[in-house]
Amino acid sequence: MMKNKLVLERAREDGLALTFDDVRLRTDYAVVMPDCVNLESKFSRNVGLKIPIVSAAMDTVTEYKLAIELAKLGGIGVIHRSLSIDDQASQVARVKHHLNGLIEKPICVYQDDKVSSVLSRRESKDYTFHSFPVLERGDKLVGIVTGNDFEFCEDESLSIKDIMSTQLLTAPEGTSIDDAFRLMCREKKKILPLINNDGKLVAMYAFKDVKRIKTRSAETYNVDTRGQLRVAAAVGIGEEALERVSRLSDKNVDVIVLDTAHADTKIVIDTLKKIKKAHSIDVVVGNISVGASAERLIEAGADGIKIGQGPGSICTTRVVAGIGRPQISAIYDCAKSAEKYERSIPLCADGGLRNSGDIPLAIAAGAHSVMMGSMLAGTEEAPGKIVFAEGLQWKDYRGMGSIGAMEKSEAARERYFQKQTGKNQLVPEGIEGLVLYKGRLSDVLFQYVGGLRNGMGYAGVASIEELRERGDFDRMTSAGFSESHPHDIKITKGSPNYRTELDGTR
Ligand code: IMP
Repeated sequence: MMKNKLVLERAREDGLALTFDDVRLRTDYAVVMPDCVNLESKFSRNVGLKIPIVSAAMDTVTEYKLAIELAKLGGIGVIHRSLSIDDQASQVARVKHHLNGLIEKPICVYQDDKVSSVLSRRESKDYTFHSFPVLERGDKLVGIVTGNDFEFCEDESLSIKDIMSTQLLTAPEGTSIDDAFRLMCREKKKILPLINNDGKLVAMYAFKDVKRIKTRSAETYNVDTRGQLRVAAAVGIGEEALERVSRLSDKNVDVIVLDTAHADTKIVIDTLKKIKKAHSIDVVVGNISVGASAERLIEAGADGIKIGQGPGSICTTRVVAGIGRPQISAIYDCAKSAEKYERSIPLCADGGLRNSGDIPLAIAAGAHSVMMGSMLAGTEEAPGKIVFAEGLQWKDYRGMGSIGAMEKSEAARERYFQKQTGKNQLVPEGIEGLVLYKGRLSDVLFQYVGGLRNGMGYAGVASIEELRERGDFDRMTSAGFSESHPHDIKITKGSPNYRTELDGTR
């Protein structure tokens, strides 16, 4: 049970809503040091996290590249829904196939395919692997073609059978990952196809992936029970959402995120119930900002709830529609309501985070995880190219309710309940802009996670759950706020976790 947080309780009684910069965490006696705290948490009832960080379902934040890297670092990415069902399903498949203990449906080539056609397919689909099992037309396994075979092939008009290797190491269907690892090490083979009694290929192990899983480097990975990276995907409402969920489930997506600007609505709740009736998959529903909405969603079967109306860096909802609630109070109110239920429903605090210190604040207010847009936009792995302006490197970042995003995609219009609206009659609730290029996601997350660890150390808590339960706040004044930032100095050297006005982002 979360203890009552006095500052937030009093504010609640007064009808006063607080946000990140209105509060700071109090320090408390610590036994566990920051490097030993446990960061595990949950995104939804059945889907865990090794770090409590989730990437936003936005077209400038989460596609497969960022989702792969984030899951490798312990979090989870939500693939946005401004994609056709086919494209979104294939993005999910890319994440699921990236690190396969067991590749259940390996991508194969036929022995009479031309080398040139396989190479162009490899390039157009952006495959991150270079070896393929080779089949004859009856689907019997006849060989393997590897990166080396392609590299040393001087004539691309040859057929795959001219360059493939037929010296196959295979194992029977059902071979365990441990046996596969031993066999591949002993025989020095990088690919191990598994075949059934008819000689047909049923699955495959790739040494690189098996080794990762068997060695320490996989300890941080957020993987499902089969050893595949976890990934979530966003859907909207109505019939189209149900079709999307079916296709995404076929690709073994771990979580469905029912992604709308106002989740406490009949259409969203009806869609949630239909999804839960048809599939046994976890559904996180959002967004909301008051406790009564959390109760309605939990009663309708939500496996996780996403909180945030108006805090986003690209969001103009509060200005345009006059609604929304400052985020710390929104999280706390929903957490207090969710606690009334025996079924523990994880809460994700979505939007408004600007610095690593906001992560422990969101968790101490009651969140189990945080969703980030701007803090992950601009990374190497986020969609989009680097642009140069004012002597600096930037990447695009835009709200899904911005004119640009809504004009491009029906899904973005639907998120703001404007699906039927003509393109020149849109009422945007977001803006479009640039964020500084941030470099590799792993370097960026290192700082965010480091800040969270340090915060937990100061608060004297050893786990995310303990931070939720015991973390407590002081109310800030504007004097306290300005004292918190560097002052009385001209900053002359950049810091990897502190941005200044000079870089244009504050
Ligand atoms: P950020 O982390 O502060 O940049 O906020 C990201 C969050 O803002 C997303 O996860 C969405 O919940 C929300 N969001 C995305 N696009 C829009 C928009 O156009 N208007 C309002 N909120 C948005």
